[in-house]
Amino acid sequence: MTVNVLGISGSPRRHGNTETLLDAVLDGAREAGGEIEKIVLRRLDYASCQGCNVCHKTGVCIIDDDLTGIFEKIAGADLLVIASPIYSMGITAETKGLIDRAQYLWAQKFILKTLYYSAEHTLRHKAIFVSTAGLGWENVFDAAFPAVTAFFNTTGFEYWDNVIANDLDRYGGIAGHPAALEDAQKKGRDVVDLLRSLQAPDDTET
Ligand SMILES: Cc1cc2nc3c(=O)[nH]c(=O)nc-3n(C[C@H](O)[C@H](O)[C@H](O)COP(=O)(O)O)c2cc1C
Repeated sequence: MTVNVLGISGSPRRHGNTETLLDAVLDGAREAGGEIEKIVLRRLDYASCQGCNVCHKTGVCIIDDDLTGIFEKIAGADLLVIASPIYSMGITAETKGLIDRAQYLWAQKFILKTLYYSAEHTLRHKAIFVSTAGLGWENVFDAAFPAVTAFFNTTGFEYWDNVIANDLDRYGGIAGHPAALEDAQKKGRDVVDLLRSLQAPDDTET
C-alpha cells in the first residue's frame, strides 16, 4: 500500500536547521516505505493572496503560478509535513504565503459548500508541523500553531504531531541538539506505519 508523503520546506535557508529537521522526518517516512516528495518554497515563484475574494464566488483562485500545482500535490498526499523556522515569533513569509493562498479551499468549504472532508478522510490524512527556533522559550512556537492548524483543517489533514526544536542558538544549530533529529526520524517512521494500518483494503487497487 502506498503512503504518499509530501514535505514542504518554508525556510528561506537551504539545508539549514529546519530543512534538516524536515529531512529527518522524511528519512524516517522513507524507511517505513513512504513515497517521498519534497518541495522547497523559496525555489518557487508565487504571489501572496490578493484578498480579491473572487474565490468566494467561484471557488477558484485568480492567481496561476507555481503554487497552483502545489495544492494539487497537497490534495494527493496521505502525509503532509510543513516546515517553517520561527521568524519574529511566527512562521516565515514563505509559509504564510502558502497558507493564505489556501483561501480558495476555505471558500469552497465554508461559503460554496462544494468541498467536504469526511471524518474518515481526515483520519487517514495526517499532518506534521516541523519547526525550529533560536530561543529557548517554551512558548516560542505558540504564534505558529494557529496558522498551521487552520491550514491543516482547510486541506483535510488531521494535525497529528509537531516536530519542534527550540534553543538552537545555545545548541549551535540542529546538529548540536541532543535528540531532535533522532526523534524526528522516529516520528516519520511511526506516522507512515500508522497511515498504512489505517488504509482501507481497496486502497491497494490503485
Ligand atoms: C529573520 C529571523 C527572525 C528570527 N526570529 C526568531 C524569533 O522570533 N524567535 C526565535 O526563537 N528565533 C528566531 N530566529 C532564529 C531562527 O528561528 C532559528 O535560527 C532557526 O533555527 C532558523 O532555521 P533555518 O536554519 O531553517 O533558517 C530568527 C531568525 C531569523 C533569520
